[in-house]
Order: sequence, then C-alpha cells, then structure tokens
Amino acid sequence: MKNEILNILKNKSEHISGEKISKELNISRTTVWNYINALKKDGYEIESVTNKGYKILSNPDLLNYSEIQEFLSTEYIGREFVYLESVDSTNRIAKELAFEKKEGLVIISEEQLGGKGRMGRNWISPKYKGIWMTILIKPDIDPSEASKITLIASAAIHKAMDKMGIYTQIKWPNDILINRKKICGVLTEMNCELDLVNYMIVGIGINANLDRKDFSEDLKEKASSIKMEIGKEVNRKELVGNILNEFEKLYEAYKNNGHIKESIEINRQNLVFLNEKIKIIKRDSEEIVLAKDLDDNGMLIVEHEDESIEKIFSGEISIRGLNGYI
Ligand code: BTN
Repeated sequence: MKNEILNILKNKSEHISGEKISKELNISRTTVWNYINALKKDGYEIESVTNKGYKILSNPDLLNYSEIQEFLSTEYIGREFVYLESVDSTNRIAKELAFEKKEGLVIISEEQLGGKGRMGRNWISPKYKGIWMTILIKPDIDPSEASKITLIASAAIHKAMDKMGIYTQIKWPNDILINRKKICGVLTEMNCELDLVNYMIVGIGINANLDRKDFSEDLKEKASSIKMEIGKEVNRKELVGNILNEFEKLYEAYKNNGHIKESIEINRQNLVFLNEKIKIIKRDSEEIVLAKDLDDNGMLIVEHEDESIEKIFSGEISIRGLNGYI
C-alpha cells in the first residue's frame, strides 16, 4: 500500500488530496495519512498543503523497490524484492529464503555488518554508499557448470556500467576494475546435490560512492570506488536497474541456448591482463604464467614458462597482476 501511494504521488506533478488517494485505493484518509508519515520517515520529502493535499518534492537516494522500479525492465529478476536497511550479509538472507522463494528474488541492504567476500574475506559495506545485493536463481544445470553464472554476472555488471559511460575491465572471473583498481566483487554460492543445482545466489558488492576514508588501511591501495575513479557520484538506483536488466538478458540466453557466448565475449574483450604475465595463486602454490585467452567455457587459457598451455578453472584460485596491486 505504501508503494501504491508512492506511485500515485510520483505520477502527479500537482498536489493530490488525501481524499482522492483514499478513494483510489479504497482505504481511509487516516490510513493514507499514516502511510504518508511512514514515507516521510523513509526519507521522502512530501509537502502537505491544506485544501490541496500532498505533493512529493524529492526522491531519496535509497535502493528500495519503489526507487529501483523505474529503471527496471526485467520480467522476473528483481520483481520480488527484499529491501533492508541493515543486515549482516545479503547472501546469508538469500540462503535463508532460497527454498521458499522463486528464482529472481533480489535482496538489497543499505549496509552490511558482516559482508562476505571470496576466500573467507570480509567485505566492507558502509551505509548508503554502495550496492550490496544478492540475486537468487535456480538454473536447471549440472553443478559443474556453476562457475558460468559468475561470468554472466561480471558481463552484466560491465555492460550496465558501460551504458552509463563508465568503462570497466573484468579481472577474471569475478572482479570488476576501473583504472586497474577493484570497485566490485562477485561472490557466487551454490546449494546442490550430486547432479542437480537446488539454488545459486549471486552476491554483488559495488563500491559505488565510497570515499577513501571508508576503506581499511590494507585496502586503501588496491580497492577504490566508482566515485573515486570517475570523480563524481554514480546513480546507484540506475546502476542496480541496469545490472538486473543485463543479468536477466544474459542469463536467459544461457538458459535458452545452453551456452554463454555473449557473456564470454564481453569478458574476453574487457579482460584485464590479457597477454600479460600474471601470478596464479592456488591453495598451496603460486606460479607466474602468461594470460592468453578465455575458452568457450570461460576457462582461462594460460601459457607456462616452458610454453605448455593450461586451461584454468575459476574454482578456488586468485590471480594477480605483476605490476601494481591487483
Ligand atoms: C569478493 O570477494 O570480491 C566478492 C565480494 C562480494 C560482496 C557481496 S556484497 C553483497 C553480497 N553479500 C555478501 O555478504 N557478499 C556479497
């Protein structure tokens, strides 16, 4: 109901009376008044003028569904939406809801107090400054295919930012960089049987409008934010909408065609380190190799010092550039 009142206000350039709203929605004027107050509490600036009614003056920079929907053109991704002001981790909430909810559910929180990164790291997620969200999907695929979903997400994030004039590179398989600094990470988690995926959750953390002071000392040199790199604030709502739109398109292509050609192509064309020497860090070893290409399944093709070629699966490995920090 709160959303419906918000939509009525957003679609009116003039004041609208409480009585009109109450008739349109078949609720009492007191109920309308209560919801208007709730909206004000949420951060909406709403003017109330005697004998004229209500008029919305500004939309807050919040990532709730009412704010995102104008940027959303998806059929099902993000159409069911959980919006939180604060949570430990959106991935954790997604896991909690995964069995009862359909694919497409998106969970966004304005802050995370225990954000999770890859390899058990923490993910700094300060309030109102970034995009901390998780998408729930239930692809009918073999668990061995799961890493493709991360490549779809990376491609979707790259495309979404490209649309907004922000050029990013992809650090295979799950980081997005601007000027070779990490501004986004993807943490995909899966619940599966031997040959069946129950669900997957795609956690996306974007350092949208963080300032240097928001990063811990050890991250200051390698991580950055979109704002710090492009010199101005990014519209978080538009970016969320764009990412979900692009994700649905690329994910649908995978479901319909069984391959991720377009996602691979986007990853390949924007791959940082292509034809550069990189350090591959496995659980108990490190090696310097030459990054050659991505194959059609999204595996990284590398050349060893003895010129032998190896295809690397994204699993539990990390790659680093040799010059600079990433
Ligand atoms: C990485 O280590 O690069 C992946 C970081 C993923 C962070 C996101 S923020 C939203 C979602 N919830 C989490 O706890 N983690 C992911």
